[in-house]
Amino acid sequence: MGRGYFVTGTDTGVGKTTVSCALLRTFAAQGKKAVGMKPVVAGSENGRWHDVEQLIAASNIRADREYVNPYAFHPPISPHIAAQQAGIDIDIAVIERAYQALSSQADIVIVEGAGGFLVPLNARQTGADLARALNLPVILVVGMRLGCLNHALLTAQAIHASGLPFAGWVANGIDPQMLVLQENIATLEQRLEGSLLGVIPYDLEMNAQEIVKILDVVTLGIQ
Ligand SMILES: Nc1ncnc2c1ncn2[C@@H]1O[C@H](COP(=O)(O)OP(=O)(O)O)[C@@H](O)[C@H]1O
Ligand SMILES: [Mg+2]
Repeated sequence: MGRGYFVTGTDTGVGKTTVSCALLRTFAAQGKKAVGMKPVVAGSENGRWHDVEQLIAASNIRADREYVNPYAFHPPISPHIAAQQAGIDIDIAVIERAYQALSSQADIVIVEGAGGFLVPLNARQTGADLARALNLPVILVVGMRLGCLNHALLTAQAIHASGLPFAGWVANGIDPQMLVLQENIATLEQRLEGSLLGVIPYDLEMNAQEIVKILDVVTLGIQ
């Protein structure tokens, strides 16, 4: 069975897909069979789900789409409401089976969560329950903007409460105007349990290869 990571973020739109794809390409460049998984996606454009397409493009093995993405909804709304509107109950056991199938085919499975860590998935469970069911170390993507310290520390608390290992975090520069960026990063380095895997600058043109160079996968304990 392959090894896996659960990629969460301080919010939606903070760079989870960007970082997940960079991790996949990094492991692929090391000769590992790497596959991305997006268990639940909500929000399509022209009938396509960007997160799923990007993760598939960054994976170096082909896997059944029903395993890569068991649940997909068109409206860009919270998954539990999108599911309710579609008359579906998101079942973590279904996601677990899909994960096991991917894990049996790959050395590395990168699982990108929906939204933030405590996003509701159904009437009772959240993204944290999913991460716990999969029993994966968590990587936190911090979208560097005003307010992110609180979001990052709250998420770290939730990761701690889940009992899962906090494998590391990535500082992603999503706001080119952010003041005292370095001081914010230093604050989080001091207060977060997980180690800093890399600082990604704001760059709309940045390609995957450049991000790959930034992320310190060695720190994750895999060579
Ligand atoms: N470091 C960055 N610099 C510039 N744009 C970025 C950066 N990181 C992410 N983005 C852009 O921000 C948007 C949200 O990123 P994405 O990885 O899809 O976030 P999430 O998966 O958390 O929703 C995308 O359009 C992405 O290209
Ligand atoms: Mg995403």
